[in-house]
Amino acid sequence: MIDGPAPARRARRGGDAGAATRRATTRRPGSAQKKDRTPHPLLAVGIDIGGSGIKGAAVDLRTGAFASPRHRIRTPQPSTPVNVLPVVAHIAEMIRHDVGRADLPVGVTFPAPILEGRTMSAANVDDAWIGYPAEAALSNVLGTSAVLMNDGDAAGAAEMRFGAGRGHRGTVLLLTLGTGVGSALFVDGRLLPNTELGHVEIRGKDAEKRSAAVNRTAKRLTWKAWAALLDEHMHALDRLFWPDVIILGGGVSKNADRFLPYLTVRPPVIVAELRGDAGIVGAALVAARAARLHLPPVRKATTAGAAGQPATGAPIADSATPQLVDEPTEAK
Ligand code: BGC
Repeated sequence: MIDGPAPARRARRGGDAGAATRRATTRRPGSAQKKDRTPHPLLAVGIDIGGSGIKGAAVDLRTGAFASPRHRIRTPQPSTPVNVLPVVAHIAEMIRHDVGRADLPVGVTFPAPILEGRTMSAANVDDAWIGYPAEAALSNVLGTSAVLMNDGDAAGAAEMRFGAGRGHRGTVLLLTLGTGVGSALFVDGRLLPNTELGHVEIRGKDAEKRSAAVNRTAKRLTWKAWAALLDEHMHALDRLFWPDVIILGGGVSKNADRFLPYLTVRPPVIVAELRGDAGIVGAALVAARAARLHLPPVRKATTAGAAGQPATGAPIADSATPQLVDEPTEAK
């Protein structure tokens, strides 16, 4: 069932994306092209498959802002490939319609490690995904070669380029707190993919069964009680990786003031800026890199819900090299 479209989270400067695209692509014959200074939008589509929802939007890769409404459809149950793939195709179709372009790169995230385009586990989705050639199947239903990646890795890529990770060198650990716990581990801006740190064992249990945001609501835990479980998970990861900073993302990070005060873990903990939308933005970003789109330096910082915010950080160099990881960034 369709929940969306929701209003664009962060509008592009100068109006809606479709209008911007039309402005940029339709010129009167003989009119002074050099006077049209509207930059052509640098767009890609990001779609984030989750255990409870599938959401997507077009993303302006100069800023990380959404360039279309954000569409969300509940994940069908059972969440088998045969049920999920048409929903992804439907969302992509709505986005293409929104922006008036069918040629955009498409990136898709999934809550599992991805090896050679296959989804290797199914912690919060149907077991039919285990070992499934999802990237090929997605490319087939989308009619374009889609790029598939782990959802935590995508969120990390987005935060490193557009959000809380900008300019952070050293070891950066991002955790996304949702139905499961996703992770992304960066060293000097380079990602070690598929880390799956939600699944370390704590007190004989899969850690994410205790520290995922959904555990707080399902078990009606107080913020303090849930924060203690999350804290224990973070202490365990700190003992293994000694990160310079931990970034906490996922939708629950909008309530960070409710649980951050209870955390006692050693490294500084900062809140993700793109929050629940980082997966969409990261998927689009990785797809754009794979398509060898040239990504200019980020021109302004973006924060969830804040349209057209001025830049708060120095521009970060980027590269056209297709890779899942962010380029090493300038030191903060
Ligand atoms: C999955 C990860 C995923 C995380 C967040 C875990 O259960 O194993 O691959 O990143 O949930 O969705």
